[in-house]
Amino acid sequence: MAIDNRIPRHVAIIMDGNGRWAEKRGRERVYGHKEGAESVRACVKYAIEKGIRYLSLFAFSEENWNRPQEEVEALMSLMLKSISDETPLFLQNGIRFRVIGDFSRLSEKLRREIDDCMKLTEPNTTLDLIIFLSYSGKWDILQAVNRYVADLYGKDGGGSFSRSGGSVPQLDARTLSSYLSTAGIPDPDLLIRTSGEQRISNFMLWQTAYTEYYFTEILWPDFRTTEFQLALDAFSQRDRRYGKVK
Ligand code: IPE
Ligand code: IPE
Ligand code: MG
Repeated sequence: MAIDNRIPRHVAIIMDGNGRWAEKRGRERVYGHKEGAESVRACVKYAIEKGIRYLSLFAFSEENWNRPQEEVEALMSLMLKSISDETPLFLQNGIRFRVIGDFSRLSEKLRREIDDCMKLTEPNTTLDLIIFLSYSGKWDILQAVNRYVADLYGKDGGGSFSRSGGSVPQLDARTLSSYLSTAGIPDPDLLIRTSGEQRISNFMLWQTAYTEYYFTEILWPDFRTTEFQLALDAFSQRDRRYGKVK
């Protein structure tokens, strides 16, 4: 029987391997992305079943903007379609849909669809489904520091701290966290990466300081409930010490 006595509150996934999955079948990469969307659906359903409270999915990185325009466009259209198709399901299942990332690079139409869905599902409390889109960990830390500095000085130097006066207040960990785009969301307990790559690829850098990592060779379109359960089983065996002696 599966071991699932220690369920992580927050699971983050780097959904990788769509392109290779399609190429192995002699198909276009986009075919892999479409099948990957099915894995998202399966994992969201399973996360709710398992009582996971936050599910973060890395869907498109800042660096992914450097892919061929055709693939970028296909990914953005798929995102738009998925949100509009899935909104009723989010509402039926208590899912709060959230998107985190650099919105300035998204199309007006996609931004509107995201905003609408986020507002509609805001009161939901069963599962926070957080999509990282046009996101990078370095971007997040930089935007946090820049907003902190802007709040300190104010846009025209008229903030709570004057440019000429005294030393700059030290930025502490709690304050920086409160400026990150993930403010209010607990740090991930478990980070899964599919497709055999063992790197973080500029995902949540600050937030994963004490996250448990789980790497699998399985390509994202093949990552469904059985694979998800294996990751949860592995997590339940981990001994999280946070630098202390037990
Ligand atoms: C993950 O699959 C999806 C995105 C990064 C958008 P990839 O498209 O990276 O697939 P591979 O890694 O090339 O197989
Ligand atoms: C990481 O996958 C980003 C997402 C899954 C959205 P990539 O395929 O972009 O990562 P690298 O290039 O192999 O590091
Ligand atoms: Mg990849």
